[in-house]
Amino acid sequence: MLLIKTRKQLKEHLWALDKKDDLGLVPTMGALHIGHAALIQRAVAENSVVVVSIFVNPTQFNNPEDLKNYPQTLTADLEIIGNIAKDIIVFAPHIQEMYTEKVKSESYDFDGLDKVMEGAFRAGHFDGVGTIVEALLTLVKPTRAYFGEKDFQQLQIIKKLTEIRNIPVEIIGCPIVREANGLAYSSRNERLSKSMREKASFIYRTLKAAKKKFGTESAINVKEWVKKQFEQHPDLKLEYIEITPTNTLKPVLRKYKNIKYRAFIAVYAEDVRLIDNIALN
Ligand code: PAJ
Repeated sequence: MLLIKTRKQLKEHLWALDKKDDLGLVPTMGALHIGHAALIQRAVAENSVVVVSIFVNPTQFNNPEDLKNYPQTLTADLEIIGNIAKDIIVFAPHIQEMYTEKVKSESYDFDGLDKVMEGAFRAGHFDGVGTIVEALLTLVKPTRAYFGEKDFQQLQIIKKLTEIRNIPVEIIGCPIVREANGLAYSSRNERLSKSMREKASFIYRTLKAAKKKFGTESAINVKEWVKKQFEQHPDLKLEYIEITPTNTLKPVLRKYKNIKYRAFIAVYAEDVRLIDNIALN
């Protein structure tokens, strides 16, 4: 494994490679877990050269406390990456490398994809994500870049970003990896108490039940049902439940046969914000 901390060094290293057209990028904010590892493994299987970036991007945090509490575990991260493959390039830049003048986001028109759900509840979040992902894609120039369906809205927005900015890269979405109890792996799970981590499995159980109901009931009924389940839960606080077509992410008013739908959820467990989603059909 090669740890690189500056843009200059990374550019020089990538420039010297033979296989510039078979390069995979996995952007992360570190605190790696099994969900990240699955993305990296897939990138290793599909590319001759793999770059994993580790950068806690300040502009995508709308809540300063969340940024402050975000785990930084570089030594453990390097060990996880080293166990996947020996020749992975890790790019872990300092903030000044990625934001040379101001720590500020670009402003994007994502065609409304950023106006709902995470975008509605986390002001400026997707401009921050777009800014850093565009910077990484432009720097690394990967053939393929890997993102998790755990952040499905982010995945759709990044596809849109490459379209509006004409960035020649294949964006590959990877399935959500879950803990044994069904809770989607997240760096934030580490902040839950042991008992809350178990209780939080309620989120996925409810999504699975919602999927079943969606076969016979309207989207509105399913959403109301989910809201009720959380109202009755003593520890979990629902922030939103939304059902949308997978491509537009606009809240569904009426179900159509040939459209693929997904349910999206955000929940507070103690003071930890958890998100998840599920394909409904
Ligand atoms: P981060 O939260 O570190 O996630 C990095 C990648 O891992 C994202 O594409 C995310 O969707 C994926 N991922 C996280 N948990 C997963 C799980 N349980 N199963 C499958 N994939 C999972 O997402 C970000 O960082 C940032 O926004 C980033 C894209 C790096 C830009 O800063």
